[in-house]
Amino acid sequence: MQGPRRKVKVMLMMTMVFIFIVVEVSRNVGKGDGNKNKLLVPSKRFWAKDLPSNAYWNRQQQQLNYINNPNLEKLNFTVDKLPDWLNDTVSLDSCDPDFRVTTQIKDFNSLPDRFKDFLLYMRCRSYPIVMDQPNICEDQPFLLLAIKSLVPHFDRRQAIRESWGKAGRLANRTVVTVFLLGNAAMEDYFPDLSMMLHHESSVHRDILQWDFRDTFFNLTIKEVLFLEWLSTRCPGASYVFKGDDDVFVNTIRIIDFLNSLSHAKAKELFVGDVINNAGPHRDKKVKYFIPESVFVGTYPAYAGGGGYLFSGQLAQKLHNVSRSVPLYPIDDVYTGMCLRKLGLTPEKHKGFRTFDIEEKYRNNACAYKSLMLVHPRTPQHMIKIWAWLNDPALNCH
Ligand SMILES: *[C@@H]1O[C@H](CO)[C@@H](O)[C@H](O)[C@H]1NC(C)=O
Ligand SMILES: *[C@@H]1O[C@H](CO)[C@@H](O)[C@H](O)[C@H]1NC(C)=O
Ligand SMILES: *[C@@H]1O[C@H](CO)[C@@H](O)[C@H](O)[C@H]1NC(C)=O
Ligand SMILES: *[C@@H]1O[C@H](CO)[C@@H](O)[C@H](O)[C@H]1NC(C)=O
Ligand SMILES: *[C@@H]1O[C@H](CO)[C@@H](O)[C@H](O)[C@H]1NC(C)=O
Repeated sequence: MQGPRRKVKVMLMMTMVFIFIVVEVSRNVGKGDGNKNKLLVPSKRFWAKDLPSNAYWNRQQQQLNYINNPNLEKLNFTVDKLPDWLNDTVSLDSCDPDFRVTTQIKDFNSLPDRFKDFLLYMRCRSYPIVMDQPNICEDQPFLLLAIKSLVPHFDRRQAIRESWGKAGRLANRTVVTVFLLGNAAMEDYFPDLSMMLHHESSVHRDILQWDFRDTFFNLTIKEVLFLEWLSTRCPGASYVFKGDDDVFVNTIRIIDFLNSLSHAKAKELFVGDVINNAGPHRDKKVKYFIPESVFVGTYPAYAGGGGYLFSGQLAQKLHNVSRSVPLYPIDDVYTGMCLRKLGLTPEKHKGFRTFDIEEKYRNNACAYKSLMLVHPRTPQHMIKIWAWLNDPALNCH
């Protein structure tokens, strides 16, 4: 966003200088010979005025760009000095529902409920943590595995603990695993599993839970809260893998890959199954549907949320920049937006197979050896594949 804007500024300046020269030259030429050369003074404004976008998210981004403009900081900017065209976007930064959206978005009433819920709480970024593991990173992990899970997925979490997410030493490196949970809320008709979750947490001490409804559109909240947690509880982690609880991760291969990185590359690492040139789905029936009244434009390159790998240093930057990007209801696209704001692009690595491998290789142990991630896999498959990879008798070639 900064780049193009700066370009526009430079072009504007060049245009002004040009007009100045033209005016000066014509003045000088005109001197002394009457009215022969008339001045060409534009009668109307000849540059484009900033206009608010019709799409709600884009307008929120315009506002944040305005507020975070470093040139304004020097002028002691406050929100009451927002220009008129951004007047209706003044941030409340509150966790009360923002009912203004019901009139600010023209088709609000006809949007699916998940949009109404998202939009009403879009400005809220802080939810209380109800299960924390404050000392889990005492040993400064080389690799932190952060797995998005849902309260009822006990079997998936257990399979991960027994296979690719086993915490401790692996390939002579320290691995720490945490599961990221919201609430299985009664309003979403979940049975009360809190006793079971408490038991699980007291046995394994690897659960992080925050008090928000764990829905698809709230995964961005999970991302932001995790980045916050990381920066306070685990700032020493060298690398972070974040992914879903239905993937198989070849943790050994990932550690090998990380060991092989050059220092420069390691600092700003962000790899995964990168999707380029995507944009919002306009078909209401698709899970990823986004109405035009909410977002217009294309998506930046982003790594599919099934699982991606990034450096601890970049995690800090992501955490910082996320304040300048309004929440977007699709979490992996949101992370792509934050990367773009940092001027970075995620890198595609063909070892991340979020769309699975060919069926004929799925039961071939050697097919997994060079891969980093395969999606989807059941708990039983996770345990089976992990056993294959750790079998000393496995001979590929
Ligand atoms: C901004 O505020 C500071 C401290 O209140 C003051 O010294 C400074 O002159 C102000 N700058 C402008 C441009 O108003
Ligand atoms: C928005 O504009 C209206 C009228 O133009 C003004 O009365 C109001 O104070 C403005 N609100 C903010 C927050 O600037
Ligand atoms: C394991 O790591 C330690 C310190 O990180 C190192 O001193 C040791 O040489 C490593 N061992 C092997 C077998 O790589
Ligand atoms: C996200 O969580 C908050 C807090 O529980 C809730 O009020 C809101 O409805 C949720 N949003 C969605 C889209 O589920
Ligand atoms: C965090 O972001 C602010 C601007 O929002 C920037 O001035 C600051 O340098 C950033 N800090 C880090 C550590 O990236």
